[in-house]
Amino acid sequence: MKFFVDTADINEINDLAATGLLDGVTTNPSLIAKSGRDFKEVIKDICSVVDGPVSAEVASTEYDAMLAEANEIRTWGDNIAVKVPLTEAGLKVCKQLSDEGTMVNVTLCFSAAQAILAAKAGASFISPFVGRLDDISSDGMRLIAEICTIYDNYPQFDTEVLVASIRSPMHIVESAKMGAHVMTSPPDVIRALYKHPLTDKGLAAFVEDWKKTGQSIL
Ligand code: G3P
Repeated sequence: MKFFVDTADINEINDLAATGLLDGVTTNPSLIAKSGRDFKEVIKDICSVVDGPVSAEVASTEYDAMLAEANEIRTWGDNIAVKVPLTEAGLKVCKQLSDEGTMVNVTLCFSAAQAILAAKAGASFISPFVGRLDDISSDGMRLIAEICTIYDNYPQFDTEVLVASIRSPMHIVESAKMGAHVMTSPPDVIRALYKHPLTDKGLAAFVEDWKKTGQSIL
C-alpha cells in the first residue's frame, strides 16, 4: 500500500519524507488556502522533496477553463498528478490528459458508479472520500470494498484506488485489508499508526532493565 500525505505544509512533508515511508502528496484548494502560500510555489517546493505523485487540483469547474488550468499545472513538475473533480467536465479533462500521458487524480468520488466512470476516463487515481461519507451516516469503507471489487473484475482498468478523507488509523487498516492501492491521510493519522500503549510500556521496561546491566553497546 502506498502512503500519501494530505497536506500542503512543507515542514510536515519534509518530516514525513525523512522516514522513507512517504510515497506521494495530495493537496486540494482548502489545503492550499490553509498553507497561506502561493499555489505554484508550494507545489514546486513539494515536488522538489517528494519523487512520487504530487496531486494539485484545478480551481475552475467549466471544461475550457479547467483544461487551461490543468495544462498549466502539469508543467510544474515531472511528478504532478492533476486533480480534477468527478464531474462531466472533470472526466473530459481527465480523458484528454491521461491520453497524453499525464497522471490524473479524480477527486470528490462518493459512489461506485462515479468510480467506474473515472476508470473508463483513464484516471491514474480515483479518490473516494471515506470520512465525509461516515460524517453523513453512510459507510465510507463499504464504498472502498465496492470499488476494489469492481476494479478487480476488469484487469484492463489501470486506475488505483486512493482512499481519501481518512480520519483514523482504522480507515487505513481496513483499506489495506481490502487491497486499496493508496491511502492519503493527514500527518497526524500517519503518526498515530506507530502508536501502541504496549509498545510504550514494553520499551520503558526494557530501558529500565538495560540500565541495571551497567553495560553500553558502543
Ligand atoms: O484531499 C481530499 C480529502 O482527503 C479531504 O479530506 O478531511 O477534508 O474530508 P477531508
